[in-house]
Amino acid sequence: MPRTPIIAGNWKMNMTVSESVDFVKELAPKIASYEAVERIVSPTILSLVAVSDTLKDSPIKVSAQDAHWEASGAFTSEVSVAMLTDYVDYVIIGHSECRAYLNETDEKVNQKAKAILAAGLRPIIAVGESLEQNEAGETETFVSSQVKAALDGISAEDMANVVIAYEPIWAIGTGKSASGDIANNIIKSAVRDTVRGLYGDDVADAIRIQYGGSVKPNNMEEYMSQPDIDGALVGGASLKVDAFTELIEIASRVKGN
Ligand code: PGA
Repeated sequence: MPRTPIIAGNWKMNMTVSESVDFVKELAPKIASYEAVERIVSPTILSLVAVSDTLKDSPIKVSAQDAHWEASGAFTSEVSVAMLTDYVDYVIIGHSECRAYLNETDEKVNQKAKAILAAGLRPIIAVGESLEQNEAGETETFVSSQVKAALDGISAEDMANVVIAYEPIWAIGTGKSASGDIANNIIKSAVRDTVRGLYGDDVADAIRIQYGGSVKPNNMEEYMSQPDIDGALVGGASLKVDAFTELIEIASRVKGN
């Protein structure tokens, strides 16, 4: 079965509530017709309710940028998966910025993934190596270990709802990006084949894996032409209606069935 391409815009800490609503009002009609591509926006937690309400009759899905693994309790500043279920389909976890600045460990990523799946939502699990690890030739071992840790204890059945995003840290927001070939090789050997080792061919061939890190309209085709890259997790270029629309258009043209 061909894998449905999946493009998610990670807005990070950008846009007020009204800006977010205005943005999706402008975006939604432009990308509504690209049905072969799963289209996702991920606003800040504060804008999720308003954006989800604005998109309720639209095919565009909404993702949160994080969630806590407990349903409720004494976790000041946090938001649980249970609180998100009415508003989102996806939750991004393990983003390198959260790993770096918010102490999100592999163990927390795994706990979050389990909570997200138990609630019937879908995790987008981000993995990726630093520049030092890349230069030391440790990329495959490191990324594979992140994948294994994130998936610990997750059933083969639940894997149908898991998306993994390979984002080399050195390519995020820097304008540097891995070439299509290199990104595809890592995605195949360190992500898809790690999943294959854990769950077998059916799960490995079905799981959708995104590339992320300075994805722009001018390099999108290069990524989408790769056999193991099923979509993109996009930061900067997802904050512009025209650029994000172009990414979806390219994904649809190159990967749409
Ligand atoms: P970027 O961000 O596209 O701005 O590099 C990607 C990400 O952090 O998900």
